[in-house]
Amino acid sequence: MAKQAKQLSKKTETYHNYIGGEWTKSASGESFENLNPADTTDVVGRFPKSNSEDVDRAVEAAKNAATRWRRTPAPKRAEILFRLARILERDKEKFTREMTREMGKVTKESGGDVQEAIDCTYYTAGEGRRLHGFTTPAEMPNKFAMCVRQPVGICGLITPFNFPMAIPSWKLIPALVCGNTVVLKSGEDVPLSTINLVKSCEEVGIPKGVVNLVNGFHEPGEALVNHKDVRLISFTGSTDTGRIIAEQCANQNKIVSLEMGGKNAIIVMEDADIDNAVEGSLWGAFGTSGQRCTASSRLVVHKKVYKKFCEKLVERVKKLKVGNGLDDKTEVGPVINQAALEKILGYIEIGQKEDRATLACGGNRLTKGEYKNGYFIEPTVFTDVAPDHRIGQEEIFGPVTSVIPFNDLEEAIDIVNNVKYGLSSAIYTQDVNRAFYAMQELYTGICYVNSATIGAEVHLPFGGTKGTGNGHREAGTQVLDIFTEWKSLYIDYSGKLQKAQIDAVEI
Ligand code: UN1
Repeated sequence: MAKQAKQLSKKTETYHNYIGGEWTKSASGESFENLNPADTTDVVGRFPKSNSEDVDRAVEAAKNAATRWRRTPAPKRAEILFRLARILERDKEKFTREMTREMGKVTKESGGDVQEAIDCTYYTAGEGRRLHGFTTPAEMPNKFAMCVRQPVGICGLITPFNFPMAIPSWKLIPALVCGNTVVLKSGEDVPLSTINLVKSCEEVGIPKGVVNLVNGFHEPGEALVNHKDVRLISFTGSTDTGRIIAEQCANQNKIVSLEMGGKNAIIVMEDADIDNAVEGSLWGAFGTSGQRCTASSRLVVHKKVYKKFCEKLVERVKKLKVGNGLDDKTEVGPVINQAALEKILGYIEIGQKEDRATLACGGNRLTKGEYKNGYFIEPTVFTDVAPDHRIGQEEIFGPVTSVIPFNDLEEAIDIVNNVKYGLSSAIYTQDVNRAFYAMQELYTGICYVNSATIGAEVHLPFGGTKGTGNGHREAGTQVLDIFTEWKSLYIDYSGKLQKAQIDAVEI
């Protein structure tokens, strides 16, 4: 592993934006370095630091390509996307390693991320031969009524670091199959994975200008949100940023779809298979170093099994192998960057000093030996957490979980629901009645029984209630409602004027 990591670290390539089918430098000529979070001496590459001028050019290219792409029959658009899925499959291994190098998560998970993009592409490309509308009877005789989906126009897609290929694909593929052209702004910590996706789009012959990519930080994102020709913004990221984006979009009457934070919880009932619940909690809380919006950052455990559960959990957490994600033995990789590291350590301090919860294990940054150049934090468990503690309420987005005791299911459901987010929830129980009751009462967009809060599949809608979203769902066929608008069509073949709501119809 060490050898492979070193070999990779030797070459520092320079990458470009993709605008109108050309790989171009940023308008300012400025670039930024993308560092490996497991070893910041390893520079993954240099990427263009874009500004509003780059966005203007990209939107112009998307505008120029729009009519041709919109008029390309959807099954033909889909054929190109099926080819794209095959390219992603072909290069899965390379994309996986490059993703771990820039993002840090273990290669098994990066492989899962690329696989999620492949699955999304196959599944959503299938919509090219469906994109169903509907017909319905008209209220007048000799009149026909139907409804079709039409593309919305130019879409701005703003994506985060934690799923560097899956999340861009959730937005890009439906946007394209529906006939839109796009400008993608990648997460600044993971630009290479988005470039890998866009290069694959180029290889399969998606026409120039249909997919455009700008790299960089805040500036291009803001320019995209405020560009008058961008009709839709699809954003995944923090609730604070999402709210600002929503406000800016409201000013311009843009369509906006938001997928934001989570404070997801697993309920463990007294009748649960405890070992299974512990395994699920480990995976849900520490997979991707807790950097999933679906992460199991609260474990709400029945008092009767609380002690046993905590003991087993802490024993397992202490054994988790933290390290470079490129090493096959690693179970928990680094966190993404310095700012994330500080935020997470800040919450660990809040948990101890402000909330006065019990730090059951972990709690420290790892700095020695193999950890010295990376952003590593020990997997951390707080016990005796109260539902209203800050660590029980706020999104930490790191390898930290809080165990909260409860007395009965009703109380557990209240604890899970009483946060500002509503993405994912789970319950471990052997009792079908309790499982169904929980499924009914947990106010989240996703709910699992006897498994963790992570691991959503691409053919079901993904998204959440309350502070997590604004009512939209990605993935599934529901995503089509983001990337199309409905057009109602009335065809009067009576040969005369018929006035709806006014003329009496003879029966
Ligand atoms: C996210 O964290 O934003 O359900 C996405 C899951 C993954 C996707 C997570 N399939 O955990």
